[in-house]
Amino acid sequence: MSILKVARLGHPVLRGGARPLTPKEVVAAPIQRLIADMVETMHEYNGVGLAAVQVHQPLQIAVLEVADNPRYPEKPAVPLSVLVNPRIEPLAQSMEEDWEGCLSVPDMRGRVPRYAQLRVRALDHEGREIDFTASGFHARVIQHEFDHLNGKVYLDRMSDLSTLAHLQEYIRYWSEK
Ligand code: NI
Repeated sequence: MSILKVARLGHPVLRGGARPLTPKEVVAAPIQRLIADMVETMHEYNGVGLAAVQVHQPLQIAVLEVADNPRYPEKPAVPLSVLVNPRIEPLAQSMEEDWEGCLSVPDMRGRVPRYAQLRVRALDHEGREIDFTASGFHARVIQHEFDHLNGKVYLDRMSDLSTLAHLQEYIRYWSEK
């Protein structure tokens, strides 16, 4: 496995979208290797999610996991999951605002409104159809990664850029300790 280079804001790959994969492609060696490398890269940089476009691959793959993460110490656990070709559908119109960061926008935090509850359909790491509901922080991470696969970053979703903060200032003035 390898730790991959993460594209930063300004790299066109973050704005170009991603193509879907067939189940056959998912189980083939190159994609299995990419998924393993994405998980390793996410762990290395303490991310809670990583989209393939962030490692310069315009493919509809995202990995996510929240488990005692030092970048998000107060957040509930989300099991390691792989979402290929994800489709999301809000289950209610209500939105919640909370802080987000992104490995492609290093050392920044901002408040982002997201749907509180989602239905998610995707393929898993073995190319099988999965269909589940997600809420709260789990739903937030999925929306963040889904956006990456469609050429968006969390800054595009902020309703008020005045909350944008560098990480040190966020920790000093805004984080819930
Ligand atoms: Ni991100």
